[in-house]
Amino acid sequence: MHRLALVVVGFILLMFAAIALIAPEKLKPSTSQQTSYGEALIGGSFEAMDHTGEPITDKDLLGKYALIYFGFTYCPDICPTTLLIVANVLDGLNEARASQLTPVFVSVDPARDTVEVMANYVSNFHPKLIGITGTKEQIDRIAKAYKVYYQVVENEDSALGYQVDHSGFLYLMGPDGKYITHFPHNVSEQDLATALRSHIAND
Ligand code: NI
Repeated sequence: MHRLALVVVGFILLMFAAIALIAPEKLKPSTSQQTSYGEALIGGSFEAMDHTGEPITDKDLLGKYALIYFGFTYCPDICPTTLLIVANVLDGLNEARASQLTPVFVSVDPARDTVEVMANYVSNFHPKLIGITGTKEQIDRIAKAYKVYYQVVENEDSALGYQVDHSGFLYLMGPDGKYITHFPHNVSEQDLATALRSHIAND
């Protein structure tokens, strides 16, 4: 009997040891998940200038959904293509939904994308499109908040001058300013429209 009791106690101790060893491992996936789903931390406060020359902050975007894209007006293909997708999708939404959505284009090239350049540029795409530019410090702050990477690339041969490498996600933010989801720059109009309809109420 004593031997059996020892075996049982030993077994229980072994189980505790195993749990103690396994438990930290089990915690790891959820920890790394939090890291990789860090999108929840996307967004935040900023101060900059809109394309009409008025100051704009994150507070001005509250109350409506915002579809935010970062790029630059000299971008030869990707930025205009993405903004065209946004414009077409916006026009495809009914008024109930469209009135709840603000499309936003943030320049990562504020040196060239002045208020005037931005005003001219956004008007090519959609009357509701808000262009945001500002000082480099202001843009750096927005880019950091949205975890947007950008990097000036000198290109002596190009008639367009330098280029700006940048990440190309479309961020959907809620009326409360919180991140909802994002889309790749080459999202299809159909997929973007479907997603927006699923998030924005039809009233
Ligand atoms: Ni671009």
